[in-house]
Amino acid sequence: MPKNKKNTQKKTSKNTKKTNREILEQIIRVDHAGEYGATRIYDGQISIFGKNSKIGKTIQHMADQEKEHIDKFNDLIIEHRIRPTALLPVWNIAGFALGASTAMLGEKAAMACTVAVEKVIGEHYEEQLNLLEDDHKDLKKTISKFRDDELEHHDIGIDHDAESTPGYKIMSKVIELGCKTAIAISKKI
Ligand SMILES: [Fe+2]
Ligand SMILES: [Fe+2]
Repeated sequence: MPKNKKNTQKKTSKNTKKTNREILEQIIRVDHAGEYGATRIYDGQISIFGKNSKIGKTIQHMADQEKEHIDKFNDLIIEHRIRPTALLPVWNIAGFALGASTAMLGEKAAMACTVAVEKVIGEHYEEQLNLLEDDHKDLKKTISKFRDDELEHHDIGIDHDAESTPGYKIMSKVIELGCKTAIAISKKI
């Protein structure tokens, strides 16, 4: 990472580092895609459990925060004139399918899905905070707030016994890899 970092920064006359435009575009595009995917995962889980079950209410709390996140990135896409990923229709279906299929395996499996997804997203937001310079202080604040929300979701999953799901390790690895792949693709396409 430090190797590329040099190329991602420009110094202005006032010696304030500016975030490279391409990096900014990738950050907003991928976060918009990820938050959209997250809303679809929780939609899929709620479609199985219903809103009024105990687990459904817990998931709804996380879904409400994801709604806040996607609303913010919808605004940022417009404000910064960023082209959204062309793959939104894919993440629409893939997110919902991931949420619904893990929920069909049971509450713990649904929470294992949350733990895997939120772990990757939390780390991803952390990395972005290191890429953004102080010319985007507001965006950094937004991302660090959202990172905290994602880590809260991760911890909710752990508290709901995600780790005792049969096949937890392999399931986590598959979902984590899927998320990382989706992130890599959504930055560019
Ligand atoms: Fe989120
Ligand atoms: Fe989340």
